[in-house]
Amino acid sequence: PVSPCLMLHSDISRFKHESMSRFAEYIFFHYVHQRPPPWSDTLPTLHVITPTYGRPVQKAELTRLTNTLLHVPNLHWLVVEDSVQRTALVSRLLENTGLNYTHLNVETPENLKTQKKPRNVRFPRGTMQRNLALRWLREHINPNSSHKGVVYFADDDNTYSLELFEEMRWTLKVSVWPVAFTGGLLYESPKINTQGKVFGWKTVFDPRRPFAIDMAGFAVNLQLILSKPQACFKLKGVKGGYQESSLLQGLVTLSDLEPKAANCTKILVWHTRTERPLLVNEGKKGFTSGSMEV
Ligand code: UGA
Ligand code: MN
Repeated sequence: PVSPCLMLHSDISRFKHESMSRFAEYIFFHYVHQRPPPWSDTLPTLHVITPTYGRPVQKAELTRLTNTLLHVPNLHWLVVEDSVQRTALVSRLLENTGLNYTHLNVETPENLKTQKKPRNVRFPRGTMQRNLALRWLREHINPNSSHKGVVYFADDDNTYSLELFEEMRWTLKVSVWPVAFTGGLLYESPKINTQGKVFGWKTVFDPRRPFAIDMAGFAVNLQLILSKPQACFKLKGVKGGYQESSLLQGLVTLSDLEPKAANCTKILVWHTRTERPLLVNEGKKGFTSGSMEV
């Protein structure tokens, strides 16, 4: 396939004789449909799993994440809405990205979100959605195929460097790296010994956790996910901060972990959280967004 830029250059003279609006349409078509880098037969596919839920900033978050993912070759985005139905907003957004995606949904039951729980046990967000995406991969990808891949859990509100995706691409079992702005610190990180192995966790909050790492701090080889069909995020009785451990304990031990990002000396992902917009004037006489999709 010819790159969109080359095609545009060679076709410009032809369009000189046609109307500018036809030309603009042509550019728009190529812009939308040839946005992601061309697919490569040699690179492992990155299966990026994103749970998402409706709130005023949802479209902004997904737009920002889209703009990042569009730079990443061989990417499959699994977007799982926490909703009764797949919404028109997310469907249209995904369709317009030009990305290679799978759109799923499962609603977290209200009683699970609000249920009274013992102290420091809370219902983790995005869990049912991530588990559904894992099930999709297990049901749709043949473990005997030569399909090389990596699975990464990317929440919709974090900030991701493009380098991160290339760091995780050749993950053998589970790769790990630091994450900024988690656990009340500038960053949390795996601790690496002189042999380049993980021996503990640089965290203040409960460093004795089996895997004291944020969701954004690791990626898993797809074959490992497929070969351990019982491994998933536990829904019940999981103490705060133990969600990641509940998956990883079913997949690897500490000695299997592969430190990335220059032996965990670089920050390539930030646990940013978006401020909730103040909407105090919404609904005041005549001031309501009504049918506007925001
Ligand atoms: C932290 C961790 O970084 C998350 O990976 C973890 O899921 C979460 O805590 C947790 O409470 O379990 P935090 O920024 O507090 O992250 O959580 P959010 O960003 O609000 O939610 C994590 C993901 O789940 C997001 O992609 C969000 O869109 C999604 N989510 C959140 C839902 O699908 N449904 C919800 O009701 C809330
Ligand atoms: Mn978040």
